[in-house]
Amino acid sequence: MTGELSPIDKAKFVAAKRAADFVEDGMRVGLGTGSTAAWLVRCLGEKVRDEGLRFRGIPTSTRTAQLAREMGIEVISLDEAKWLDVTIDGADEFDADLNLIKGGGGALLQEKIVATASDQMVVIADAAKEVEHLGAFPLPIEVIPFGWQTTQALVEETLVALDVMGRKATLRMNGDAPFVTDECNHILDLHLGRIGNARQVAMVINQIPGVVENGLFIDICDQVVIGFGDGRVEVRDINAGTVSEDQIEFADDENMFQDL
Ligand code: A5P
Repeated sequence: MTGELSPIDKAKFVAAKRAADFVEDGMRVGLGTGSTAAWLVRCLGEKVRDEGLRFRGIPTSTRTAQLAREMGIEVISLDEAKWLDVTIDGADEFDADLNLIKGGGGALLQEKIVATASDQMVVIADAAKEVEHLGAFPLPIEVIPFGWQTTQALVEETLVALDVMGRKATLRMNGDAPFVTDECNHILDLHLGRIGNARQVAMVINQIPGVVENGLFIDICDQVVIGFGDGRVEVRDINAGTVSEDQIEFADDENMFQDL
């Protein structure tokens, strides 16, 4: 069935499959949100079923929680876990320092809380997510619904003084209605084009009343597992300064492709 997967999906799958090896018995594992993280949850579910892997998952969204339960993974809350061994999640963009833009799926708030409460954050991504400068992907920020248009105006005004190319902020929609996050907030997507100083943007945006959190993950990610459509994966560890390569074999009749 992998023949029916696009090269991007194959790349996401092999990155997820490689990253599933980071999970060991007894660990508390943050489970990310998005299409790449969904592959991870399926791969981990397979390990639970076929290899008897025992770990507890802390999901970063209701979507991921539901999929994890369906896959037979034991799910606990962050407050039950308190601290995590590792969080594995996708990203919308990553740069050479493994700084990220996240939140394309609207789960950035829980994702950042969970990743920050982990010994390690591992990002899984297809190679197209790597960028020289963050910002081509619109930066999502989570804002409370009260006065969101005032917050939007204030954000756009604040961006004038920052090292970014664009400053248009658009409200994310879900059909005809504003998109609503798991925390009942809205998302503004900031069309910045290019972010010169991501650390500064992350800090300044969070000072604006009404902004709950932004999708810039600065100094949070420790490793990235980059997948390619031909089954190759590259693992980069920013702390150890190492890069390793692997080839992931997958059979066309992998169980997890059958219900896609
Ligand atoms: C979810 O809110 C996001 O942070 C995702 O992790 C990110 O958008 C990557 O998603 P995909 O794996 O679907 O590309």
